[in-house]
Amino acid sequence: MMNIKYLEKSRLFKLDTNNTSYVIGVVDEEGFLGHAYYGARIADDDVSYLMRIYENPKVPSVNNRDRSSFLDTFPTEFSGNNVGDYRESAIAVTDKNGASGIQFLYKGHRIIDGKPGIKGLPATFEGESKAMTLEIDVVDATLGIEGTLSYSIFEDSDAITRSVRIKNSSEDTIYLDKLMSMCLDMDDNNYKMLMLHGSWARERHIEYRQIGYGKQSVSSTRGESSHQEHPFIALVGENTTQNTGEVYGFNFVYSGNFLAQVEKNQFDSLRVVMGIHPDNFRFKLNAGDEFYAPEVVMVYSNNGLGQMTRTYHDLYRNHLIRSPYLKKPRPVLINNWEATYFDFDNEKLLDIARTAKECGIEMLVMDDGWFGYRNDDNSSLGDWQVNENKIKGGLKKFVDDVNAIGLKFGIWFEPEMISPDSDLYRAHPDWAIAIPDRIPCRSRNQYVLDLTRPEVRDYAYNCVANILKSANIEYVKWDMNRQLTDISSACLDKDRQGELMHRYVLAMYEMQERLITDFPNLLLENCSGGGARFDPGMFYYSPQIWCSDDTDAIERLSIQEGTALIYPLSTMGAHVSVCPNHTVGRNTPFETRGNVALAGTFGYELDVTKLSEEDKAAIPKQIDIYHKYNELIRLGDYYRLASYSKNNLYDCYEVVSKDKSEALITFVQVLNQPNMHSVNIKIDGLDDNKIYRIEGTDEAYRGLTLKNAGLLISRPWGDFQSMLIHLVEE
Ligand code: DGJ
Repeated sequence: MMNIKYLEKSRLFKLDTNNTSYVIGVVDEEGFLGHAYYGARIADDDVSYLMRIYENPKVPSVNNRDRSSFLDTFPTEFSGNNVGDYRESAIAVTDKNGASGIQFLYKGHRIIDGKPGIKGLPATFEGESKAMTLEIDVVDATLGIEGTLSYSIFEDSDAITRSVRIKNSSEDTIYLDKLMSMCLDMDDNNYKMLMLHGSWARERHIEYRQIGYGKQSVSSTRGESSHQEHPFIALVGENTTQNTGEVYGFNFVYSGNFLAQVEKNQFDSLRVVMGIHPDNFRFKLNAGDEFYAPEVVMVYSNNGLGQMTRTYHDLYRNHLIRSPYLKKPRPVLINNWEATYFDFDNEKLLDIARTAKECGIEMLVMDDGWFGYRNDDNSSLGDWQVNENKIKGGLKKFVDDVNAIGLKFGIWFEPEMISPDSDLYRAHPDWAIAIPDRIPCRSRNQYVLDLTRPEVRDYAYNCVANILKSANIEYVKWDMNRQLTDISSACLDKDRQGELMHRYVLAMYEMQERLITDFPNLLLENCSGGGARFDPGMFYYSPQIWCSDDTDAIERLSIQEGTALIYPLSTMGAHVSVCPNHTVGRNTPFETRGNVALAGTFGYELDVTKLSEEDKAAIPKQIDIYHKYNELIRLGDYYRLASYSKNNLYDCYEVVSKDKSEALITFVQVLNQPNMHSVNIKIDGLDDNKIYRIEGTDEAYRGLTLKNAGLLISRPWGDFQSMLIHLVEE
């Protein structure tokens, strides 16, 4: 049972989820807020001894001559700055005198039912099960700055969410130079740091680092969560596996600049912080102004990485993603990007649509190049009028034609951008983000619109909305193909320029909120040059995100493994494309491309009219397989059974239905090996006592046997071969 309680006598807050506990303490006369414990659930409530306040150097009321020694060792719940704790600060300000000291002390608290939202930001919500929230008010009385540290727990989850808001309750203006959303001090247990790193077409590969003394971090200062590093880190025990050992996961519900850092100090304790990156960040807070920091989702598991994964998946499916499509099968789409790039017209797309329909595909998505005079990526972003040289007769007629073939219709936009070669730029050059007197940096020959200006935001939003109103459009792919540079806004005062990066993210969220409010039945897929903005913040608005521009089935194994470490399979945009693959030049069997794409939203990204008869004939069968397994994949529990990125030979993962009545195992033999036995894979997640038949055979075994003794999988013959194994309860 989840619960939050306050122990008056020992001045402790204890948050219990079903299997974890988190304990915060108020210490000494001044009311320092300390961190006592986070980990597996504990039975005792009073664990204040864990804060070591009775050891030297003792609390300031006893030993004020060594105040800094106390502050620099005390496991604090939210570290201050420049007053004695030399470890990473969670907050930094510049006050009216230009000084930067700040230290929050306990002021009061509330324990409330439910889970409040966070103004202007995506956040987890209570949903269909219950939630409870602890709000601890803190204050720096010298500055007159107040803060609230919020913690929420959920009846059906072991996740704990944290966020912070602060208020300038003084009469003076202050500048907020840094505000982390969380700070967690704990003893080191020889943890490794798990991170997801990448690049364009190579997103979210899992990597481990040993945690050494000093600071180690991952971050983005690119204005989005980025291809390169990801707003997620985990502390992983030395011997942790998929199903044993400790792991602490931290995931940031935000889509802009972030910092996630672990610091190991002189006493072998760790401080983890996560929040908006302080680089290029400075918020002016006048008297009475507030600032809301985004949410962090923490998950502790002592049953390995797999349990952490499933906790994140369920939390995001039940308490973050709002789309009506979350629980519905998504239409099998065909996207024309890799099929045609910019070289298409209505006839070519209708040919694709007709053949796609014959194959059982359900929706046509028209990607980049349908508007302005855009025949390559050098022009027209901002000019969102259909190009009638390409789409003859206009968009409405074209969509009607697609619908008449029996397909739904979806469309691509990049609403946040402006091409220097566009009518929009010629009319409003100041709408692009740029530093006065400096030529802004182009990327993909485009600039970023200054969405923090309401007139720019309205223009960009109305372009999308007007197109959607003009025809029967049921899906939008919202792309973002460059990262932010030249941070400066023509509309912000000079002492507010440091607000632009965060205001930009808030503005983009506001636009997406308007879109899903005005078009509640729209299926929205986010995208950013592949998967550069694949983060929990975006899932608040769209149930799926294009995972990567790399559609090669083998590269996708690593990308999807890293992505699925935290995000549900139902969120991963995954398509079958042609070979040789356009990003890596690899040839893989059509069947394997389909099997790998099944672990995502599933669709096609190819010119179906140019496929061999054999591949074309495979599509209806793949779509049948998609329909057969999609509910299981979308709603089930994911287990990682073997990893190609570790063994360099084969990959294997499984989805088990919630009632454990069936499971689907995907096995990919990436490299064939001569003269080898079958592979023994231990099958996790089944009901020990149920008997499972391997579909299509006479073999049936108990879950316990498959878990402990394993299943023998005959390696498919050849490189890049794959198979699906369906276990069904007898
Ligand atoms: C990047 C996306 O990831 C691709 O799928 C495609 O939409 C292009 N942008 C279009 O410019």
